[in-house]
This record gives sequence, structure tokens and C-alpha cells, in this order.
Amino acid sequence: MIKPVKGFSKLSKEEKVSWVVSSFFKDNANAESIIKRYWNNDNVLQQLHDEFIENTISNYYLPFGIAPNFLINGNLFAIPMAIEESSVVAAASKAAKFWLDRGGFKAEVISTTKIGQVHFMYAGDKSKLNDFFTAVKSMLISDSKSITKNMEKRGGGIKSIELVDKTSVLDNYYQLHCKFETLDAMGANFINSCLEQFAKTFKREANSFNDFSEDERDIEIVMSILSNYVPDCIVRAEVSCPVSELNEDEGVSPNEFAEKFIRAVQIAQVEPYRAVTHNKGIMNGIDAVVLATGNDFRAVEAGVHAYAARNGSYSSLTHASIENGIFKFWIELPLALGTVGGLTNLHPLVKLALEMLEKPSAKELMQIIAVAGLAQNFGALRSLTTTGIQKGHMKMHLMNILNQMGATADEKLQIATYFEGKTVVHSDVVAKFNELRVV
Ligand code: MEV
Repeated sequence: MIKPVKGFSKLSKEEKVSWVVSSFFKDNANAESIIKRYWNNDNVLQQLHDEFIENTISNYYLPFGIAPNFLINGNLFAIPMAIEESSVVAAASKAAKFWLDRGGFKAEVISTTKIGQVHFMYAGDKSKLNDFFTAVKSMLISDSKSITKNMEKRGGGIKSIELVDKTSVLDNYYQLHCKFETLDAMGANFINSCLEQFAKTFKREANSFNDFSEDERDIEIVMSILSNYVPDCIVRAEVSCPVSELNEDEGVSPNEFAEKFIRAVQIAQVEPYRAVTHNKGIMNGIDAVVLATGNDFRAVEAGVHAYAARNGSYSSLTHASIENGIFKFWIELPLALGTVGGLTNLHPLVKLALEMLEKPSAKELMQIIAVAGLAQNFGALRSLTTTGIQKGHMKMHLMNILNQMGATADEKLQIATYFEGKTVVHSDVVAKFNELRVV
């Protein structure tokens, strides 16, 4: 077992690498060389990455791919995706091409409200607390002016502050439940700064509120923080076409395709085990674009899954119908995103991704990302209900195995040809590879 290390954060980067290498690796030279191989030759760029987080020792690459041909509200996009999972970009591109020939995707933002809360404990008379809140509410807003004035100039800011009584679920627990409009910013810093100011004002004013007893003045502020659950920051994306146009899958009639597809969506609506995998496939598309555009995928994931369970049972984010011979497939989900601030102004690849998307507003990015999720789900359900998922996956799986074994381009071609139409099993690939090497 290693010993605890003191003052690690104060060590230089070289010293941190030395500590890691000597503490965890027998083959020091190899470990050090792997860590340093990922350093960027451009010192300025490397320093930028070093300073994103603490204790950086190297960079961790993800592939940055492009899914072209997305027609969204009449505009054509090539969507950047950062993801390590094979087949995701290919599936997105294939779905984009499919719908390009059928009118493309339509998307609209339904709402953009974000939420934050000051959680506090108060053991006194409820009506006095209500009176205090009424008295102090305008001061909560006016004390935050220095934080909100720029956001307000652009049309955003605090939308509402409510006192919420939560004592039925936890003794003495109340909240200031606050709504915000943060425009093109994800808004975490803005919201948290406002909330911390509300908490300060609330506490300070409680201390001198005449109607409170000495004990009632002693409100305990527990914490002030935004919520990543944003059920009023919703985007909807959809595709539709006559059922007769669902005609690209060999051996399946358009009607059969549509009906089986709808059954697959219905299963994800009623069966949580399936819904989780169904939505995971959607998040393959969503997270990849969220990451490529410098947004917080953990926040998006948390909010989306909470939304998927909002009716008490975890369910599909997508829906499908056939009405009057028209197939319709749509997604509705919460996405709190930013296209200014944070990494969006700092990370060169993120800037490039946003430029490729024609510098979208946060609302436009919500639409693009919802479309990426819908496309991904279309691709997954299309494969699952026709050929099965493994056919597409196996090509990439085979390449990953061959790369691991260090196969040459010629060996890859020969082995890929051999496995066409066959199931790719790891041991069979190794056997075939060894057979080629022996010859
Ligand atoms: C794999 O990453 C995603 C899928 O499992 C999604 C799905 O089953 O719908 C293919």
C-alpha cells in the first residue's frame, strides 16, 4: 500500500508525474512515456489544459468526429461529436441522411427557465415567516443588482422567488425556490452567486425582523445551489413522413417497419429496464455534442434522467405515432446549455465546434442537441427492430481488436474480408490473426 502524500497540489507537474510513476508503476520509463506522449507540443495550449483542473499530469483524448447532413428547421448542419464509443457517429450520420431525404428535423424550444434554491431551517411560527418573506422579497432582488445588472441588460435575470414550505417532508425545512433566465449562458455561476446573495440578505434581515422572537431570528441557511433538474427548460425535436417512405430496409415493408418501431418505443415507455437502455442510446448522441460544445454533460445527464422519471416511473424520452398514414417520431427533454462563458470561450476545439454550428445561441444549441439524441434513437431502434444491433457494432469491434493486436493495414483488410457475414468472436479474431502471422 502507498503512503499518503502531503502537499501534492504544490508539487510541479514534473514532480507530480514522478510521484505517480514511482508510486504505481514497476516499469517507470514506460509509464512516464505514456503520460508525456499525450502532452501537447504547443506549450501555451498545454498550459491552458493544465489549468482547466487541478493536479493535471496529462491530457485524455476522446475522438472528435463529425456527423454531416443534419437538416434542422431547413438549415443544414454538420454536427461535431466527442465520444469514444464506436458506431455512434456512424449511426447519427446514417439517420441524418435518412431524414435529409424526408424533410429533415423540426425542433423548437418550449421553455428556458432555470432553477436554484436556498435551503434553510426555521423552527418558528409559519405565518411570521410568510410575513418576513413578503417584507424582504424586494430586498433580495435589489441586493443582487450588482450581479444581475448585465444579465438584465440582455433580457435575462431573476424571474421569481417563492417561499416553499417543505416541513411535511422534513421537520423545519423551507426553501427559497428561485427561477432564472440566463439566455446564452448555462448560468451556473450567475445563479449560484444570486442564491448566495439571497441567503446573506435573508439571514441578515431575519436578525432584525421585529416580529420574530430571538429563536425565530436564528434561521439556519443550509445551502444555496442551482438545481440541475430543469423541467421548465425544455426542447422538442421531431421527424415525420408518410409511412410509405420508410422504405429503405430490405425485407421489411414500410408498414411493418413503422409498426415494429412504434412497439419498440411503447416498450421503452412502460418497461424501465428497457427505458434505461433506450435513453442511454439517446444520451450517446446528446452527450457527444454536449461534450464537443464544451457543456456540462453530468448536469445534462442528471437533469434528463430525473425528467424521464418525472411521472414516478422511469420512461422513454422519445415518442412515436402513426396518424392518417403519417409516421411521427419525437423527443422532449430538458437541456440547460450555454454557448457563452465557461469552456466555450476557452477550449480551441470547443470554439471550433461552435463555429461549425454557426455560433448558435443556447436555444439553437438545445435544438441541435435534441436532434442528435432523436437521430441516435432512430438509428438504434431501426437496427434493433430490423437487422439487430450487432451487425453494425461488430465492424468497429473487429477494428478495435485488430488495433489492440497491432495488425497492419493489409492484415486488417484480409481479416475484415474473412469476417464479413460472420459473428466476430474475440478468440476467433486472435486465431485468424495468428494464422496470418505464421504464414
Ligand atoms: C448502445 O450504446 C446503445 C443501444 O443499446 C441503445 C438502445 O438499445 O436503444 C444500442
